[in-house]
Amino acid sequence: MGYALKETKYRFRAWTKDGKWNIGSLTTDKNITIHEGSNVFHYGQGLFEGLKAYKQKNGKIVLFRPDMNFIRINQGLDRLVAPRLPEKLFFNAITEVVKANKDDIPEYGKGQSLYIRPFVIGQGMNLGVKPSDDYLYSVFCAPVGTYFKGGLSALEFITTDYDRASTNGTGQVKVAGNYAASLYPRQLAKDAGYAGVIYLDPGTHSKIDEVGAANFFAVTHDNVVVTPKSSSILPSITRKSILYLAEHYLGLKTEERECFIDNISEFKEAGACGTAAIITPIKAITHKGLRHQFGDGEVGTTIKKLYDLLIGIYYGDIEAPEGWIKEIKID
Ligand code: PLP
Ligand code: COI
Repeated sequence: MGYALKETKYRFRAWTKDGKWNIGSLTTDKNITIHEGSNVFHYGQGLFEGLKAYKQKNGKIVLFRPDMNFIRINQGLDRLVAPRLPEKLFFNAITEVVKANKDDIPEYGKGQSLYIRPFVIGQGMNLGVKPSDDYLYSVFCAPVGTYFKGGLSALEFITTDYDRASTNGTGQVKVAGNYAASLYPRQLAKDAGYAGVIYLDPGTHSKIDEVGAANFFAVTHDNVVVTPKSSSILPSITRKSILYLAEHYLGLKTEERECFIDNISEFKEAGACGTAAIITPIKAITHKGLRHQFGDGEVGTTIKKLYDLLIGIYYGDIEAPEGWIKEIKID
């Protein structure tokens, strides 16, 4: 099952009728029966989100900045010409799924969490290339451990000549097609013994864009935390949070700007960040046959501090900035 530790019993489904969402309900049925002519199968009209529920030391179950997933899923739906999700439906589905599967939320202290996967697909017979008339919104979940093997240990990555998204394409939204495009370069990297792929900007292939299904960030020799500015990367909630923590908790300067691959030695530390990846330190990047190692190849001190802060906030051991943590009352 890869990243998932096991399957859970309950999921949530809501459907549109005449462009309006119904209130939806929980089900134990893992299978979705939809028309063979559905847009999602042929034209990729589908998108997803990813967020986690954490069990804190005091037993509270919390979500990390879910309001940002809500904003991002609706940006994606606009891009796919699909109906937006009402706030109440988006959150109700997640809350119901977490509550119904409460026995599968990993205990505090194991470094695990309940990964929640909301998604929307265009469904119903539709042979011409145009938006679907009908849609499904569903949420399922699975307890998970770490996405990249090894927990907080630094891993090897390699750049690719392939792109996952184009300059004015769909890189900024979490649509299914971006991930389909990433499977082949990922496979090449895995076959060559790397943990994953570094994508370069699709326009010039001279700047670092993303790290597989995670964002890239790095620390310069004078301790500025830098992350790429690009029109083809997903605006990561984890990255936004890391920049805030670097600035407000560690007192460091931050910059969102171009990261030229030929100038990679300006960084002493680098990492991948995302809901699944959390913070995964990058030991080295191989580009055009040359391997660049960051520092001594071990987990850098700033990255370690950011990791400890982020994890501390997820699990309630460090006070979170206002509004970052949303409790789900299990009752
Ligand atoms: N980039 C891509 C392509 C992703 O799939 C993800 C995962 O959601 C991220 C970055 C990280 O985003 P976030 O921190 O919001 O999970
Ligand atoms: C996430 O971090 O939520 C992702 O989308 C990564 C992934 C498992 C596709």
